[in-house]
Amino acid sequence: MTQHDRLLIVDFGSQVTQLIARRLRELNVYCEIHPYQNVTDAFLQDFAPRAIVFSGGPDSVTRDGSPRPPKSVYDMGVPILGICYGQQVMMQDLGGRVEAGHGTAEFGRAWVTPAESRLDLLSGWFLDGTGREQVWMSHGDHVSAIAPGFEVYGTSPGAPFAITADVSRRFYAVQFHPEVHHTPNGRTLYQNFVREAGFQGDWTMDAYREEAVQRIRDQIGDKKVICALSGGVDSSVAAALIHEAVGDQLTCVFVDHGLLRLNEAEEVVGMFRDHMNLHVIHAQEQELFLGELEGVSDPETKRKIIGRLFIEVFQKYADGIEGAEFLAQGTLYPDVIESVSFSGGPSVTIKSHHNVGGLPEKMGLKLVEPLRELFKDEVRALGRELGLPDSFIGRHPFPGPGLAIRCPGEITREKLEILRKADAVFIDQIRRHGLYDDIWQAFVAILPVRTVGVMGDGRTYDFACALRAVTSVDGMTADYYPFSHDFLGETATRIINEVKGINRCTYDITSKPPGTIEWE
Ligand code: XMP
Repeated sequence: MTQHDRLLIVDFGSQVTQLIARRLRELNVYCEIHPYQNVTDAFLQDFAPRAIVFSGGPDSVTRDGSPRPPKSVYDMGVPILGICYGQQVMMQDLGGRVEAGHGTAEFGRAWVTPAESRLDLLSGWFLDGTGREQVWMSHGDHVSAIAPGFEVYGTSPGAPFAITADVSRRFYAVQFHPEVHHTPNGRTLYQNFVREAGFQGDWTMDAYREEAVQRIRDQIGDKKVICALSGGVDSSVAAALIHEAVGDQLTCVFVDHGLLRLNEAEEVVGMFRDHMNLHVIHAQEQELFLGELEGVSDPETKRKIIGRLFIEVFQKYADGIEGAEFLAQGTLYPDVIESVSFSGGPSVTIKSHHNVGGLPEKMGLKLVEPLRELFKDEVRALGRELGLPDSFIGRHPFPGPGLAIRCPGEITREKLEILRKADAVFIDQIRRHGLYDDIWQAFVAILPVRTVGVMGDGRTYDFACALRAVTSVDGMTADYYPFSHDFLGETATRIINEVKGINRCTYDITSKPPGTIEWE
């Protein structure tokens, strides 16, 4: 198996450290983020990076005990790029001077102009004819004297040492954040940096697929593995990859809790079983879930019931698969990165998977997590490599508890049926208008109110519904999608005409925060 050259990102706690990794992965460079506390001499030896990036961070290098890398990092002979706090660390460690705040803080957009000397790191920059380049600054402290061996290659009004470098040692230090969107040409810096470091750009999905398949085979051997298939992108790609590696040793369990969208179970099971030849158990447990949810209207109680039943059901089916020793999960890289907390102290943020949390321990199964190194868009790219259709890869996220959390109050079969139809019309509208890929997530919620209306010559007394469509990057924050009035009017008319049981339609324009994306 090929061993990729690796780049190490030392995390000093910046909010945008993950973006550095994204930019590098886009350049087909394999990199990992590690919190500075873990980066010891031994770690550096073992990791053997071809290049290193120091991230930004919230602390001040002028404070005693502020985060630092081990000194040996400067003796490894590999290129280092220091960003913001990372720049200041480098300057101070190597004999320069950094001063705290006092009126020199710079936050937001700034323009860097080149100095006289040329620097390979900057080739392709400053090309727009204005002689300056937009960057994003966010610093309180500033470098007041650069370290011996460094020269200035770019300045901004607030940062006379915006870009400095010691070319002979290949150490580069920038005051701004080249990884963020507001440094529009920042990618060029990373591109030059990794070229300088000698990366081949061999981190491709094609190569990853091959290596991941081999790793899965090594891990699983001739044992059996089970996977809770949800129909979401992560579990689907994980299942497809493991299937490629070990074929029929994989059994997927698709738990149908009766809270799925129109035709969803058929589509998911059909695709995996018929189209991709996976062994899929369609656990038809609608009666069990809907029965236990009867009369329950408290949102947390609903979620708890669904979570508990999900585990019970999955376990029941898994117990039927003799010799299963492994459980596959679609854990992604953002879920496993240990990040440095904003208070500066060490903190570990590891999210457990919503829907099968606690299962492996309970069942005594070992985990297979073939997507642990990937970001979401890499998972999508891998899914395409594996032959999953684009329409499937690009699907909006759908929560584990399904329609239960889009049906505030008590869940009834009647309401679920109405909701499924209304939701299908809304999504159809969005697709017809070519908006599906611009929206993070869209759905209908059926409200626990009936309203009076008039249709034809008759009075109606039916449910009201709310349309929800949001834009988001990660689901943590969101804003409502700005549909045109024409679109909203046409959609409301279609839903009320086509879906018996709904006579009023509203559009939810709440952002997150203060709202959440789902209604419960
Ligand atoms: P909220 O409603 O918290 O949702 O703003 C943020 C994102 O998470 C999804 N979500 C869930 N996904 N199990 C899941 O797998 C859950 O219990 C769950 N609750 C919310 C939601 O659809 C949105 O994408």
